[in-house]
Parts: sequence; structure tokens; C-alpha cells
Amino acid sequence: MSNTKVRKAIFPAAGFGTRFLPATKSIPKEMLALVDKPIIQYGVEEALAAGCDQIVIVTGRGKSAIEDYFDISYELECTLEKRGKTDLLALSRNVSNMVHLSYVRQKEAMGLGHAVLMARDLVGDEPFAVILPDDVIDARVPCLKQMVDIYNDVQSSIIATQVIEGPAISAYGVLAGSPDPGNPRLFAVSDLVEKPKPAEAPSKNAIIGRYILTPAIFDVLERTPLGTGGELQLTDGIKGLLATEKVYGYSFEGVRHDAGDKFGMLKATVEFALKRDDLGPQFRDYLKSLKL
Ligand code: UTP
Repeated sequence: MSNTKVRKAIFPAAGFGTRFLPATKSIPKEMLALVDKPIIQYGVEEALAAGCDQIVIVTGRGKSAIEDYFDISYELECTLEKRGKTDLLALSRNVSNMVHLSYVRQKEAMGLGHAVLMARDLVGDEPFAVILPDDVIDARVPCLKQMVDIYNDVQSSIIATQVIEGPAISAYGVLAGSPDPGNPRLFAVSDLVEKPKPAEAPSKNAIIGRYILTPAIFDVLERTPLGTGGELQLTDGIKGLLATEKVYGYSFEGVRHDAGDKFGMLKATVEFALKRDDLGPQFRDYLKSLKL
């Protein structure tokens, strides 16, 4: 491996977002606003905070709003400047100045593993992060930063996990593994199953949308057959990686919101709005006034 630092983060954003229809008929799910920022921006900020300086977004048909969002908007900036709206101007500029971005297309939504494979040429022979933008994680130390710190130590693939109770586990990839003697949040993975029936789930440790992967995953994905739902599953690829490399699960510190789901987005909106200095006090009073 030529470079062992995690510099690149892949954002798969080519899915249909069916759980958020009808909005996602014409708005990419990744552009849905959580308070006032598209959910993908939370992920990009997390990647930057973890030391990644190259962002690769995997897009598809109908996703051009994502590219527009991260571009410089001359017309908007010019208008804001003329009107003396310097605070809003700074907000718009911050977005376009954030980072070096590249885009790659996934012609057909053939699964998360396939989306990751599309970024192969841009990633090359180095470890990289994968961030699923609809998992928004609120944490004191950004989740990916927690994982990069561990990666720097173990130099192996790491998957973020969260304990999910009851039948809801069937909506996730699930890990089996044994705890690491030195770190209670870390465990060595022995098996992975995508969307198991509740009775067949090997544990309660569900895979959440943050990964650090070694580049060996690309060759494995190339030869992984289509799995659950007729899609190339990243979970199946990581299971293949286990034949030659160690893989770790990591129970991150923080709260994860599934912002790709209507109820998850509602909860995230309430929690993020309450934490805002400009909105929180007013919003708290409003919530208290509701006769629930
Ligand atoms: P999801 O399964 O949450 O996204 O995939 P989805 O398929 O868009 O949403 P629903 O379930 O129909 O509502 C997680 C991430 O992986 C991307 C999605 O865009 C999302 O950000 N993805 C998924 C791809 O880029 N390509 C795919 O083929 C599948």
C-alpha cells in the first residue's frame, strides 16, 4: 500500500431515496435540509474534521443539485454583495471553499458495493473512508475522526456499529465478532450478514454508514456476486475481505440519526434545532407550548 493515511472519503449518493418520496422525485435525498444545511454537508464537514482532504461523491441521474450546491454561485454571491448581506455571502462562500471535490457516476443504482467500486480509479491504492450521507452523526469527537484515530493504530478496515434492539435489526447489515482486549468499543469481526431475519441475526451490532476500508476491497468487490435485493452489497464485499485481512467493528460514541427516513429526519430536526443558539430558545418555547 503506497499511502497509509486516510485522505479520501467517498460519499455514495446515487440511490433513489424511496423512503422519502414524493420529495425525492426531484430533490436528491442527500440535499434534503436538516434545519438549514443539506444532509450531505454534515457528512462532508465530518470528513474534513477527520483529516480527509479529498471528497469523492458518487452521483447518478437527477443528482445535479449536489454538484451545483458545492459550486461557486456567482449570481447569488453578486446579488448578496450588492445588497450588503455579508453574513449570507460568507455562508455561501464557505460551502464552495470547503474542499476538493470529485464526482463519479453510477449509471444504475446497483447497490452500495457497486457505488463504492465506481470510485476505484479516484481512490487508487490507499485506504479510504465511506460516509453514507443519510446517517447524520452527532458526536463530541466526529465519528469518522474517532475511526481514523483507531485506523492509525490498527491499519485495518473498520466499520462503525450501533446496537439495535428487536426486529428492526433486519433493516441493517449485522456483524459477529469478539471484543478487543484493549478497547471495549472495538471488536474483531468474524462474520457479516446483510439484512438478516431477526432470528438469524448473529448479534445486535448493526452496521452504520461510516467505514474505513483498505483498497483490497476493490478486487474483492469485483468478484462478489449480487446479493440481497439483486444488488452488489458492500457488506458481502467486506465479508470477502475477511478471508485475507482483519476487519474491526467499532461502536462509536455519539448519536446517529437516520435522516433518509421521515421519522428519523423529524427527530434529527428537533434535536439539531434545539442545539442552535439562534433558534434553540425560541423553538424550545414553541415546543413547550404545544398541547400534546
Ligand atoms: P440507502 O439504501 O439508504 O439509499 O443507501 P437509497 O436506496 O437511496 O434509499 P431508500 O432506501 O430507497 O430510501 C445508502 C446510501 O447509498 C447510496 C444512497 O444514495 C445512500 O446515500 N447508494 C445506494 C448508491 O449510491 N448507489 C446504490 O446503488 C445504492
